[in-house]
Amino acid sequence: CGIVGYIGNRDAFPIVLKGLKRLEYRGYDSAGIALINDDRLSVFKKQGKVDALEEFTIGKNLSGNIGIGHTRWATHGEPSDRNAHPHYTNSKKFAIIHNGIIENYAQIKAELISKGYVFHSDTDTEVLGNFIEDIYTNLPNKSVEEAIRFALKRIVGAYCILVVHEDEPEVIYAARKGSPLVIGIGKGEHFLASDATPIIEYTREVVYVNDYEMAIVRKDELILKNLGNERQEPYITKLDMQLGAIEKGGYDHFMIKEILEQPSTIFDCLRGRLETQNPSIQLSGIDKYKEQFLTGQRIIILACGTSWHAGLVAEYIIEELCRIPVEVEYASEFRYRNPVVHSGDIIVAISQSGETADTIVAIDQAKKNGAIIMGVVNAVGSTIARLSDTGVYTHSGPEIGVASTKAFTGQVTVLILVALKVALEKGTITKERFNQLCIELAGVPDKVQEIFVQNDHINKIAQKYSHLKDALYLGRGYNFPIALEGALKLKEISYIHAEGYPAAEMKHGPIALVDESLLSVFIATKDPYYEKIISNIQEIKARKGMVLAIVSKGDTMISGIADDIIEIPEIDELIAPILNVIPLQLLSYYIGVAKGFDVDKPRNLAKSVTVE
Ligand code: G6P
Repeated sequence: CGIVGYIGNRDAFPIVLKGLKRLEYRGYDSAGIALINDDRLSVFKKQGKVDALEEFTIGKNLSGNIGIGHTRWATHGEPSDRNAHPHYTNSKKFAIIHNGIIENYAQIKAELISKGYVFHSDTDTEVLGNFIEDIYTNLPNKSVEEAIRFALKRIVGAYCILVVHEDEPEVIYAARKGSPLVIGIGKGEHFLASDATPIIEYTREVVYVNDYEMAIVRKDELILKNLGNERQEPYITKLDMQLGAIEKGGYDHFMIKEILEQPSTIFDCLRGRLETQNPSIQLSGIDKYKEQFLTGQRIIILACGTSWHAGLVAEYIIEELCRIPVEVEYASEFRYRNPVVHSGDIIVAISQSGETADTIVAIDQAKKNGAIIMGVVNAVGSTIARLSDTGVYTHSGPEIGVASTKAFTGQVTVLILVALKVALEKGTITKERFNQLCIELAGVPDKVQEIFVQNDHINKIAQKYSHLKDALYLGRGYNFPIALEGALKLKEISYIHAEGYPAAEMKHGPIALVDESLLSVFIATKDPYYEKIISNIQEIKARKGMVLAIVSKGDTMISGIADDIIEIPEIDELIAPILNVIPLQLLSYYIGVAKGFDVDKPRNLAKSVTVE
């Protein structure tokens, strides 16, 4: 979910509404805004995207200099008007918005019902709101701040909440544990949001609120306290983000903008790190723990979704170059299964947003067991970046399209840099091979650009296959994870069922699915598996399946067998995954668009999954 708040001298509504649009990638099941206007609290909310809310509010009185807003990714309760945030409490004096999950809501709800409270939604948020109200009503001094603090001490779960009370039209109360919160400091005004994107057009000075902290925000005052009521010094950081980076800038969708940005985002990722004159790699994040990387017995990579696929690519590359065993785990599995973690183990946490709840908890546990955490994160200042002992940012810039594209190539690029650096220092790679790979890596941005010459061709292929019901994505070696990622992209954007498989495993099951209606997408660029993968393509063709192959430029062998091909410039097989994923991103984009779907906001998904 996305959260926005404003307090100052301007009208809050347009600022909060615009902020919600910027945060919509975090969820779009419903949206709502609460305003305090002439000492009266009003709530406007609607199922659907922020546009639906905007339409709903036309002609209504939307004045007020204090407002809180929410865009929802449903957890407790279906997407509907009544489950939309903000939620009133029974007195209608409080309004609350919440990102996260209150785990012990049922018990608290039962207590409140026995006291006569009535609930108008299925959400855990409304329970928390009324819980705060109940404590407030019973406090002799009627302090909203104290009531919130008491309530937060009782609840179990994750939250970022914003609370306003009609009788205090000059304060927004905010608190976080597990779900992000940033506060922007303006002149006589404050902005609150789940991430910095709604804030940067107003101010660059921000405070990242920490877990178990509460903020009491007035237009000209920001007080931070811990839950023990002790004042905390707000740590102000300066945002380094350009407004253009979070706007569509003439493109139809963020997704295509972000796909096409990859030559420059990969370049930014390499800038200042990769030197090709006399090849070398600078990564201060590795220097800091050099000893551990050189002597480490194993690396565990933790991530979710697309970031997990980047981890799988890294497993192949790190093992090959550094000879260190690597395990790649879904953070959501790792955290629940009492994993074996030794002091000195290196955990690499990969996350675009830096806010994925499962990844956060997983690294927190590993840290307690003495592991060293290295973050590979895109969002600067995010929770995972701050929790990590060391890290290497991907510098891909804000990624707004829900399906990850440029962040993935940034992650793979960073992980190749890490592997190369460690391998050279460890002596598990020759200087010649190191030099060669550095030079190849530096050439990636231009080669990505070269792929875009085929965009119209890829679009035509997309039209041809847009009616599909199922697809298989097959690759070997470094390209097996790319097959997984290609399949995931297709599922996310075009709602076509797709499965990624190691091409050789296809014989052990998926081949049963092959008939003339099934498309198999092969990643078949030149590498040591080339001959083998041609056999796999033949096996599909022999069963009348359709084949689309990603091949190396000038390949004449496969073009004779496959139904369609997309060419990739020649590159070392170790770096090829960065290029090979690009046509798969484009393919799913064009199919999604051909089917008329909202590719930036695919149904049911959210970009930043801050619930477990
Ligand atoms: C969500 C997003 C995916 C993303 C995954 C992990 O599911 O929709 O695109 O890969 O979360 O997110 P992270 O921010 O940790 O990389």
